[in-house]
Amino acid sequence: MKPESSLLEMDLQAGQDDWTPTPHGEFLAAVLARTNLVEGKEVLELGAGVANHTILLHRKGARRIVATEITPELLETTKINFEANCGTDTQLELRVADWLYTQGRFDLIVANPPFCKSGKQNRRYYLDSLILDGHKRLRPEGEILFVQSSMADIPRSLAFMDANGFDAQVLGRTQGPFRDYYYDDPTFLEEMERVENAYVERDGKRYETLAVLHGKLRPYTPPPQAHLPGREDDA
Ligand SMILES: C[S@@+](CC[C@H](N)C(=O)[O-])C[C@H]1O[C@@H](n2cnc3c(N)ncnc32)[C@H](O)[C@@H]1O
Repeated sequence: MKPESSLLEMDLQAGQDDWTPTPHGEFLAAVLARTNLVEGKEVLELGAGVANHTILLHRKGARRIVATEITPELLETTKINFEANCGTDTQLELRVADWLYTQGRFDLIVANPPFCKSGKQNRRYYLDSLILDGHKRLRPEGEILFVQSSMADIPRSLAFMDANGFDAQVLGRTQGPFRDYYYDDPTFLEEMERVENAYVERDGKRYETLAVLHGKLRPYTPPPQAHLPGREDDA
């Protein structure tokens, strides 16, 4: 396996509509590079973008990767970048899929969920959905790994993970200045005023904390009294 620094060296192309990696994705990559959460695992990557994490998942020894995007055009960028860095002889499957609406069970789900620009009334929709429904795409004791901002309320995610059967921990935190696009959406800034510890201010500049969260499903068997006709494996 490559040394940690060269794991993150990639040749990435992006078109106008592709998501250009931000410090959020870069921090998730840095944490992925220094941990051993991937080797030998079957991984579902949601919203793979320019393949910055897909390439890393491959380099970290994932046994199989299913990488998704929301449109065929965005997925084409994932494909081009992945193949340019990793070749074609790999265990990668690319799927157009709306978040968790895809098939199969995996050992690990990896994501940098849309938040500021999620376009949902519940801005946390993709985070909450991953935590609430991730189990449907996971094997028993499967894991989720994602990055989020303090603006999206880190304690809220940890509590929601616990409530949904995950042993949750923060694998890393870092602080960085607000992205310029935060100032483009006044409703975002208004909402952030209601989130406790969303950001800190120093010398007139605002900083958010980025955190990489990891959750592992606790073993669970529904009680025999549960009414689960036809969906016993949906627990
Ligand atoms: C914050 S970007 C992260 C991109 C890349 N993984 C990274 O970290 O740089 C979120 C990605 O999710 C994709 N996305 C948005 N809505 C989605 C959906 N409903 N299902 C799957 N992917 C989606 C976006 O196109 C975008 O590439």
